Amino acid sequence: MTVPLRSGEPITVNVALGDRAYDIAIGRGLLATLGERIAKLRPGCKVAIITDATVAKHHLAATEASLAAAGIASSSVKVPAGEGSKSFKYFEQVCDALIAAKVERDDLVVALGGGVVGDLGGFAASVVRRGVDYVQVPTSLLAQVDSSVGGKTAINSRHGKNLIGAFYQPILVVADTAVLDTLPEREFRAGYAETVKYGLLGDADFFEWLDVNWRDVFAGGPAREHAIAVSCRAKAAIVARDERETGDRMLLNLGHTFGHAFEAAAGFSDRLLHGEAVGLGMSLAFEFSARRGLIPQAEADRAIAHLAAVGLPTHVRAVPGLNWPGIDFMMDLISQDKKVKRGQLTFILVRGIGQAFVTREVEAAEVRAFLAEKLDAKNLGARQATP
Ligand code: GLY
Repeated sequence: MTVPLRSGEPITVNVALGDRAYDIAIGRGLLATLGERIAKLRPGCKVAIITDATVAKHHLAATEASLAAAGIASSSVKVPAGEGSKSFKYFEQVCDALIAAKVERDDLVVALGGGVVGDLGGFAASVVRRGVDYVQVPTSLLAQVDSSVGGKTAINSRHGKNLIGAFYQPILVVADTAVLDTLPEREFRAGYAETVKYGLLGDADFFEWLDVNWRDVFAGGPAREHAIAVSCRAKAAIVARDERETGDRMLLNLGHTFGHAFEAAAGFSDRLLHGEAVGLGMSLAFEFSARRGLIPQAEADRAIAHLAAVGLPTHVRAVPGLNWPGIDFMMDLISQDKKVKRGQLTFILVRGIGQAFVTREVEAAEVRAFLAEKLDAKNLGARQATP
């Protein structure tokens, strides 16, 4: 995390995947360069843009204008904003729309939006005509630092999140940091959970930097670009050595096993955004690690206090208006996690800030007792790190 702050010029991070390598371009105002970047990569192509209604309002016209200025014809398909669009219903609609738009194999799909649009659009691109290349244009912080990079595409099943999908890498990611200016603060904060995750899992210096500078990251400017670039570099390095998540890439799931279960329990709704669930899940992962004696309680409390200070939920009680389902339901969700191997739970735990590791040595009974305690109404006011 020794990269100096930069201002103004775009930053390029390469995802080194051999003949499927691609660049992530990061900087203010890069949406205006999308057309020329695509024309260089794929001369003569036409583009189908997948976006959602909210993003379309803010950024579709600028995207179309950038493509048109480079002589690229485009069409667009819109889905409703929100996790509900990661479903068979909208997957079918998007695939049909791409076929109706006569998208051919040499054309391109552009996923313009946050994590939902990126996951849905990438998955549709992976199957239409057995695969059309696509470009990610992430418009949320969460998508810029995480979901647009690495080729995980998916829709949700009623059994759990992201259970139907494919590894399918984009050919380019264009992260225009200026588009984050229109993001509601709650969404930015949710994306911040995935940003600080890189510090918590493998880069203690980055965590320290964020602990001092997080307000500047929220405010915008060079600190924000720096945080996005450090996150993308960390993710690109992990994806390059473990694209299919057989080892190190699992570290990126810090906080996700608990987080996904809470997100599903909340009905994948805006009662608990994905990033908020990850923040809650990371707090629980640190607390669980401390309980197992892996990390001093004071260090776990430091991580949890940072998450609380930025306003992320760190305790079940912090999620308003939820009637948490029973422990059996939660354990069922956890056992559906994609990281379960031959029935054994896989957990990402920590030996310190920046020292996450993957373990299969966590008994379901231990998780059950821990979660039951967290869900117990009598305990909802119990132990909470002080920000
Ligand atoms: N979001 C976790 C990963 O891409 O592996």
